[in-house]
Amino acid sequence: MTTFDRSLPSDLPSQLFIGGSWVDADGGRTFDVIDPATEDVLTSIADAGPDQGVEALDAAVAAQDSWAATAPRERAEILRRGFEIITRRADDFARLMTLEMGKPLTTSYGEVTYGAEFLRWFSEQAVRIRGDYGVLPEGSLRQLVLKRPVGPCLLITPWNFPLAMATRKAGPALAAGCTVVIRPASNTPLTTLLFAKAMQEAGVPDGVLNVITGRDHGVTDKVLADPRLRKVSFTGSTPVGRGLLKQASEHVLRTSMELGGNAPFIVFDDADVDAAVSGALAAKIRNNGEVCVAANRFIVHESVAAEFTEKLTDGMSKVGYGDPMDKATEVGPLITGKDRDNVHSLVESARAAGATVLLGGEIGSGKGYYYPPTVISGVAPDADVMMNEIFGPVAPITTFGTEEQALEIANSVPVGLAGYVYTRDINRIQRMGDELEVGMIGANVGVFSNPAAPFGGVKESGLGREGSYQGIEEYLETIYMALPNPF
Ligand code: SIN
Repeated sequence: MTTFDRSLPSDLPSQLFIGGSWVDADGGRTFDVIDPATEDVLTSIADAGPDQGVEALDAAVAAQDSWAATAPRERAEILRRGFEIITRRADDFARLMTLEMGKPLTTSYGEVTYGAEFLRWFSEQAVRIRGDYGVLPEGSLRQLVLKRPVGPCLLITPWNFPLAMATRKAGPALAAGCTVVIRPASNTPLTTLLFAKAMQEAGVPDGVLNVITGRDHGVTDKVLADPRLRKVSFTGSTPVGRGLLKQASEHVLRTSMELGGNAPFIVFDDADVDAAVSGALAAKIRNNGEVCVAANRFIVHESVAAEFTEKLTDGMSKVGYGDPMDKATEVGPLITGKDRDNVHSLVESARAAGATVLLGGEIGSGKGYYYPPTVISGVAPDADVMMNEIFGPVAPITTFGTEEQALEIANSVPVGLAGYVYTRDINRIQRMGDELEVGMIGANVGVFSNPAAPFGGVKESGLGREGSYQGIEEYLETIYMALPNPF
């Protein structure tokens, strides 16, 4: 049996990062971080209490004015150095993400590139923040439109992309001149600590970037209740996002919410079925299926359903499945035993309703929160496995007859993050652009996430956009100044 290097980076911090110093949690409290592949404790790190959330906000508030006054070029160069350090330390970041999250090592390397790129992209945006100047329509006044940083931000990041979600939020915030407190998910806090270390080395001034790890203990509530906070950005589930939006309403905070998805993957009768199958595999198994833009509902025209189902099942059966440290692995363990059980109960509920499990669908024995690549056919469009975000390597397939039916099924859920369509008809692609109720569409494309493209959803999938040119606007206020005409 091959033995893999499961060591943590030797300089990995285990403390909170507040005001440029590494500090213990109150009372020296710690919590364990678990390797989902082995169920072993990887390490124990600081478990902050609410007062330390406030201390981190104190530090962010104290640093806000001077950071906002820093030349955009200087902010850009710090971000660019962050990009370079992370890229140089790709081995450390990739191994760390695989250890704490369970994503396959090759996927983690992909995330290092993706995550670092947000810093490079926003280093390039920092020097392109633009205002406006013009004559008002009546000709009586001029308008000057200025941009200002929003102010101190709370960034709450999820466990599924421990690096990329931190950089996708902190990159634009720092570029815009905002200071930040990052709250990484308690399952995967280690990557954020190494990220903070990289940014410290890149020259981020004390207090500009702070990290509070822990199991919460009311930290988020206390920081959100503090009127000095000006923005909260969150990636995670819709129910949690809804709760945060309520809390954010108290001080009318700016919010960015990247919430749950339930992506339809529609294969029309004129699709290139082989291309659809390879897109489906990519959109399903990326990151163990633990992606909010993962293809969740396969909606396939009845004339190509048999061929698509057979080829997808064959493809899923060949997916490398096992220890995520193995470079041949494409699907590793899920994040926790509870998450794995939730996935399995969706499969069981489809089976009980008469659907056919063609592949997988059983939890094996042994250590680790593994769930095998699974394909289910004959699934009703309103089955639990279709109506809920699966967050695992499970592909349920339903069929349709007409384009209207496909759209009706696709749009029948309250969320609308991503969707995929496979067809050779350019007019149909354009109709999907108009009518699919989602924020992002892969048209004959299975993976589309990119720092230069706007990421975000419609309906209950959230508010705002991350990445692209829009990403930095989320951290800027627009100030209008009226001026008289010059004499
Ligand atoms: C997410 O699952 O939250 C992010 C996925 C991505 O960036 O592609």
